[in-house]
Amino acid sequence: MARSAAGGSVITLRPGTVEDIPSFVELGRAVVPPTYGPIDEAYAQRMLDEWWIPAVFEKSLARNRHLVAERDGEVAALATFGRLTESYRDFPDVTGEREVMWKLYVHPAHQGLGIGSRLLAEIEALVEGDELWLEVVDGNDRAVGFYEAHGFTEAERSADPRWPDDVWFKKVLG
Ligand SMILES: CC(C)(COP(=O)(O)OP(=O)(O)OC[C@H]1O[C@@H](n2cnc3c(N)ncnc32)[C@H](O)[C@@H]1OP(=O)(O)O)[C@@H](O)C(=O)NCCC(=O)NCCS
Repeated sequence: MARSAAGGSVITLRPGTVEDIPSFVELGRAVVPPTYGPIDEAYAQRMLDEWWIPAVFEKSLARNRHLVAERDGEVAALATFGRLTESYRDFPDVTGEREVMWKLYVHPAHQGLGIGSRLLAEIEALVEGDELWLEVVDGNDRAVGFYEAHGFTEAERSADPRWPDDVWFKKVLG
């Protein structure tokens, strides 16, 4: 897959496989606490315990597409996407089908180099529908700024009294 240079290093995008699962778990441990800890520490821990674990990656690899960005041969970021109805999660608040980017996570050591933008552009080119959706945890203002700068707008909100809201963003692909 495509290569590019960032900060003097080489960025390569490739599909993720089950062999990447240990790297995905490690990426979660590096990126989830600084991203979600300031919003809700218990929620950040729940994410690591329930979602960033090998068993969940095995399920998601079987159902969704995974894109890995490597920087100089090291896993630097993960993005995943697929149809809502193919998710292993339930979405009682949502009706209809949608193409969703489930994850976009760049390791803190590699943020701000254009890797997130590269992964997003690749996914926009790969999805089949004419819209791309994603969920942002309420309070993740940096991610909201990033997505708004890339043409996404807030569309819906799912509330759960125990946790921060999930905010759905949508982009119409041109
Ligand atoms: C949000 C995230 C995916 C962005 O990826 P990244 O590789 O760091 O971002 P990039 O280097 O590609 O940034 C690209 C552009 O977005 C812009 N941008 C980033 N954050 C922004 C913000 N808060 N407001 C406005 N623009 C922003 C940058 O200025 C940059 O623009 P430029 O290329 O024109 O200078 C990454 O920082 C990350 O993984 N964060 C933690 C995990 C997370 O929150 N993931 C999203 C879960 S929904």
